[in-house]
Amino acid sequence: MPNSRPDSITITRPDDWHLHLRDGAMLAAVLPDSARQFARAIVMPNLKPPVTLTSQAAAYRQRILAAVPDGLQFEPLMTLYLTDNTAPDEIRRARDSGFVHGIKLYPAGATTNSAAGVSDLAHCTRTLEVMQELGMPLLLHGEVTDPAIDLFDREAVFIERVLMPLRRAMPELKIVFEHITTSDAAAYVSQSGGPIAATITAHHLLYNRNEIFKGGVRPHYYCLPVLKRESHRQALVQAATSGSDRFFLGTDSAPHLRGAKEQACGCAGCYTARHAMELYAQAFDAVDALGQLEQFASFNGPDFYQLPRNSGTLTLRRQAWTMPAELPADGETLVPLNAGESIPWKMA
Ligand code: DOR
Ligand code: ZN
Repeated sequence: MPNSRPDSITITRPDDWHLHLRDGAMLAAVLPDSARQFARAIVMPNLKPPVTLTSQAAAYRQRILAAVPDGLQFEPLMTLYLTDNTAPDEIRRARDSGFVHGIKLYPAGATTNSAAGVSDLAHCTRTLEVMQELGMPLLLHGEVTDPAIDLFDREAVFIERVLMPLRRAMPELKIVFEHITTSDAAAYVSQSGGPIAATITAHHLLYNRNEIFKGGVRPHYYCLPVLKRESHRQALVQAATSGSDRFFLGTDSAPHLRGAKEQACGCAGCYTARHAMELYAQAFDAVDALGQLEQFASFNGPDFYQLPRNSGTLTLRRQAWTMPAELPADGETLVPLNAGESIPWKMA
């Protein structure tokens, strides 16, 4: 059958609404990849130590700007790391700064560098009230940490145990349910009233959990929240391509050096910044929905965050290329997702 699908697509320059840039030599290694793909990114604050203060976010922002290669334009949208002790006044400082665009909730122990996260949301009531009042978005790592809950169920249980009570108590709080991985989360977000949206990664649109175990343990497919079964992947694709304005692009690109991934207790995170838009194009093309990509990648995010849409464009072509087996980083190497594999789309 002849392929009637487009061989190239040009969209308004996209943004990444969930990104890990790290710091120091790793920042220098990974930032050019994101800056080539995206105009702006919401930058995660889970450094060691975490970015808990507006003053720390200001200094981190300067380090990021200093790492932007000549000739590229990239705006880091900063976030603060919520702790049991984040003061309501810190939220006011963050809002007044103009460069802090969200407050990230990591349930303590949920993922990489989350030890300083929130042990009980009840400790944060005043702070969350100020966020609601000021329209400062709460960005959620939406998994419970209860060891009695199966790893694959932690997102669905989070909706019942944490998200629904929170939204009943603070219905006007702006919430981004980050990197959703389940049909439960997609349904909850699309059916809820009020200011809630979700980001979806490229890898959760393309892969299910079989990928982690294909022919042996494949640590570069291990991230948190972990890949889920196929029916969940299909629900995420449906949500991303549905035309709903509640879903937008967030890569969750999370670099770790090869040695930190390939070991007895490897770190969670997939490095996708190098080829993120190509992966999203592949996922949308697979269901003949390239026409929806611009809304998901370039419009819904800025509209939710009340920021202007970008000017400028990005073109993707159906043109296979091979992802390098590894990328240099910090005197060592970083293994991208799809290392050594053929990628069917290419950014012009
Ligand atoms: O896979 C992940 N990696 N999930 C997270 O929530 C954190 C991230 C990281 O920072 O490496
Ligand atoms: Zn993340």
